[in-house]
Amino acid sequence: MRGDILKIAVVGLGNRGPQHLCTIAGLKDLYRLVGVCDMAPEKLEANAEKFGVPGYGDAEEMLDKAKPDLVVFTVSPRDLSETEGGRSDDPELVCRVAGV
Ligand SMILES: NC(=O)c1ccc[n+]([C@@H]2O[C@H](COP(=O)([O-])OP(=O)(O)OC[C@H]3O[C@@H](n4cnc5c(N)ncnc54)[C@H](O)[C@@H]3O)[C@@H](O)[C@H]2O)c1
Repeated sequence: MRGDILKIAVVGLGNRGPQHLCTIAGLKDLYRLVGVCDMAPEKLEANAEKFGVPGYGDAEEMLDKAKPDLVVFTVSPRDLSETEGGRSDDPELVCRVAGV
């Protein structure tokens, strides 16, 4: 994967998520933002519009449709187990938890 532009998706658009979005969007030679996800419609709509990417209310749907190489989870550890569950068998998916 060296040299490739990584496709990244972000789950959780509360306090931390949009900070990561700004960083990812600013590193265009390294990353391409392919989707954002939050179960709160107002956060989802605002960030999808601001960063010009598809927004998803469900993480599983985003993984299926956006097919990211890497997912940044900016949710609480309690919510992560639910979000991450069922995809641990996917070798292409790297999960990173901010602040945990
Ligand atoms: N806020 C900070 O300054 C800070 C600093 C360091 C670390 N952290 C860590 O970062 C993580 C996120 O913190 P935060 O302050 O952004 O939290 P937050 O509560 O503001 O945001 C979390 C967002 O995730 C969404 N969410 C939760 N479960 C979801 C799911 N299953 N699918 C889709 N969306 C879901 C919520 O709707 C919410 O918008 C936490 O683990 C926290 O400990 C936060």
